[in-house]
Amino acid sequence: MPDSNQHEAIRYRAFTPDDIAAGHALSSAVRWRHRPDDWRFAAQTSSGIAAVDASGAVVGTALAWKFGVEAASIGMFIVSPEHQQLGIGRELIERHIRELGARTVVMHAIGSGLALCETLGFEKTGTIHQHQGAAFQPPLVSLPPGERLRPIGANDTPRLVDLASRASGLDRSAVLPQLLDVASGIALDRDGELLGFALFRRFGDGHVIGPVVAPDSPNESRAKALISYWLALHAGMFVRVDTPARLGLSTWLEGLGLPHVDSIERVVRNGPLPVDATSIEYAIASQALG
Ligand SMILES: CC(C)(COP(=O)(O)OP(=O)(O)OC[C@H]1O[C@@H](n2cnc3c(N)ncnc32)[C@H](O)[C@@H]1OP(=O)(O)O)[C@@H](O)C(=O)NCCC(=O)NCCS
Repeated sequence: MPDSNQHEAIRYRAFTPDDIAAGHALSSAVRWRHRPDDWRFAAQTSSGIAAVDASGAVVGTALAWKFGVEAASIGMFIVSPEHQQLGIGRELIERHIRELGARTVVMHAIGSGLALCETLGFEKTGTIHQHQGAAFQPPLVSLPPGERLRPIGANDTPRLVDLASRASGLDRSAVLPQLLDVASGIALDRDGELLGFALFRRFGDGHVIGPVVAPDSPNESRAKALISYWLALHAGMFVRVDTPARLGLSTWLEGLGLPHVDSIERVVRNGPLPVDATSIEYAIASQALG
């Protein structure tokens, strides 16, 4: 494969921690709200590729996360507005795909990124609704008898990894502990058995609730109770929840005052993922993490 682009001398090399400021400038240029700390977390947990121009400036990025030996996700996929439509985005994704081989790869994509992914064998598997706002009304949600919410503890990590992996079909044994380092968590407990959980962490302009994992329940009451816990603690603060449209939480979130501000397609290559339907991922951790 040539190491340059036909329109300009573009080189491709590993993304390093020294590229975080340049990555942040790229995401700001396309109006993404990531903070340098969000990039730092992304860079620490992934392996990435940077596209650089003849002067050495970073003009494109794509980071990849490996989940066990079977799956991966690609995110922070950005080409500077001045360098789009030149094939740089395709080259970034093709390089990752070659390295990831037979793994199942998840992305969240829209616009020309989605069109590009579809030409590379990614297939749509559902829409994610992005809800966010600060003027929400924290609701009271009752849990089934015998179930309660409690703080998560260090001993819960293996169970959280298990639930998160089954719900997403992605091996979360590496990334979930990394998320726990930067997040707070609440667990749904029935007689000492941890049934579900929701994490809450700083992200972009405010905070994000996710992942939210719970068993199916009438009217999605368990997922709603987990989300409501965090909303009640942070009334008036800017909060974001990214939820799969098919799970039906959107109307409820809208009703609370967390409007649906954007949609993105979840696409999978070499799928499907081995999702276990007894655990449901009601909100994703982030679009980049699959
Ligand atoms: C999505 C994104 C990364 C694509 O990067 P890119 O470098 O423009 O991608 P490419 O040039 O490889 O391909 C994009 C388009 O340019 C076209 N193209 C590629 N090479 C071309 C060339 N030499 N001449 C004309 N068009 C070309 C491709 O066919 C593709 O067309 P499409 O938009 O109709 O699908 C970029 O648009 C971006 O940063 N967008 C904002 C952030 C974002 O949405 N990220 C993606 C989330 S999935």
